[in-house]
Amino acid sequence: MNSTDQDNAASVVEHDLESICNDLTDEFGAMSGRRLMIAGGAGFLGYYLVQSALHWNRTRSRSNPIRVTVLDNFVRGTPAWLTALTADPSLTLLTHDVSLPLPAGIGRQDFLIHAASIASPTYYRRYPIETMDANINGLRFMLDYCDGARKRGEPVEGMLFYSSSEIYGDPSPDAIPTPEGYRGYVSCTGPRACYDESKRFGETLCVNFAQQRGVPVKMARPFNNYGPGLKITDGRVIPDFVRNVMEGRDIIMLSDGSPKRTFCYVADAVAGYYKILVKGRSGEAYNIGVETPEISMAELAGKVVSLGRDLFGYEGKVVREQSRDADYLIDNPNRRCPVIAKARTELGYDPKVTIDDGLRRSMLWYGGNRQASEA
Ligand SMILES: NC(=O)c1ccc[n+]([C@@H]2O[C@H](COP(=O)([O-])OP(=O)(O)OC[C@H]3O[C@@H](n4cnc5c(N)ncnc54)[C@H](O)[C@@H]3O)[C@@H](O)[C@H]2O)c1
Repeated sequence: MNSTDQDNAASVVEHDLESICNDLTDEFGAMSGRRLMIAGGAGFLGYYLVQSALHWNRTRSRSNPIRVTVLDNFVRGTPAWLTALTADPSLTLLTHDVSLPLPAGIGRQDFLIHAASIASPTYYRRYPIETMDANINGLRFMLDYCDGARKRGEPVEGMLFYSSSEIYGDPSPDAIPTPEGYRGYVSCTGPRACYDESKRFGETLCVNFAQQRGVPVKMARPFNNYGPGLKITDGRVIPDFVRNVMEGRDIIMLSDGSPKRTFCYVADAVAGYYKILVKGRSGEAYNIGVETPEISMAELAGKVVSLGRDLFGYEGKVVREQSRDADYLIDNPNRRCPVIAKARTELGYDPKVTIDDGLRRSMLWYGGNRQASEA
C-alpha cells in the first residue's frame, strides 16, 4: 500500500473494497442478479462480506445487483456501518436467531453464507451452549433450507459454512504447516470444545448433506483473520493490543509471548471466502489464511508498539500479566499455520497483504473509529 494515499480509515476501507472486487470479477459476476443471504453478516467478517458485495453493485453492476440479506440476532446492537447502509435498495436486514427455524420471510435465496457464531474465545467460553446451537442447529436449518429448495426445483447455487482452523486443535509439530487432510488433536470436553467440536460436527453435517442430498455446501477454515471491522472489544489478540495503544497504556501480554500464529488480513480472506462459495467443490473444506510469516505474540506486540509510535506517537511498552481467567491458555494451540495450496490451485486464492501493511491499515482504521468502542 502506498502510504501517501492510504492515510485514514475511510481510504483504507475504500482501497480494500476495490481490491476485493478486482479479485472477484468472475465470482461477483456470477452472483450479479442473484440473492445472497449472509447469516452473521453484522460481525467482523460480515463487515467486508457485505460491503464488498454492495461496492460491486455500486461500482460495477448497478443494473444487475447482488441482492444481499443480512440475517443476524444483533445481540450487540446494529453496528453503525450497517445502519449507514440501510438506504441501499439491494440490502435487507433481518433480525433472527439462527438457532431457531429460519423465518418464512427470507424468500428465495441463491447463495447462503453461515457466518453466525460466537467467534471470540473470550465470549464463546462465556456462552458455550449458544455457540454450539448456532453452529449445529443453525447450520442444520440452513442445510434443510437448501435441501427443500432443491426438492422444489429451485436449487441454491452455493452455500458456505464457516468452520475454523480450531478444528485442528493443537497440531503436533510435524503437522505444521497444517494441510486440510490433518485430522486434528482436539479435546472434546475442554473449555474451547464448545467451539472446536461444534465446528467439527458442522463440517460432518455439510459433507453428508453434500453427498446424500446434493447440497452445494462448502466449508472455509479461517486462520486468524484481522483488520477493519474487528471490534476493538472483541477479545482477540490484535484488537486487544491495539486497544492498549489507543488508550495510551502499556501492551499487556497474557501469555509468555511464545505462541505463534500466521495472521491473514481480512480483505485477502474475504476474497478467498467468496471464491469458495462460488468455485469450491461441494463437501470440501479449504484453509484460508497465509503461510508466512509465522510470528510469536511477542513479535506481534513489538510490531504494534512500533506502528503505534509511528502513527500516533505512542510511548508505551510491552508488559506481562496473568489473565484473571484461569482457563485463558488451556488448550490454546502453540502454533497455527496453514497449507493453502488447495485454495490457491483450485480457486485462485492469492493473499497479498503483508503483516506490516495489514497491521498498519488496521491501526489506521482503529484510529479513525476511536469513538466507537464497539467499532
Ligand atoms: N475471524 C476469524 O479469524 C475467524 C476464524 C475462524 C472462524 N471464524 C468463523 O467465521 C464466522 C464469522 O466470524 P466473525 O469473526 O465475523 O465473528 P463475529 O463474532 O464478529 O460475528 C459473528 C456474527 O454472528 C452473529 N451471531 C452470533 N450468534 C448468532 C445467532 N445465534 N443468530 C444470529 N446471529 C448470530 C453475531 O451477532 C455477529 O454479528 C464465525 O462462524 C466464526 O466462527 C472466524
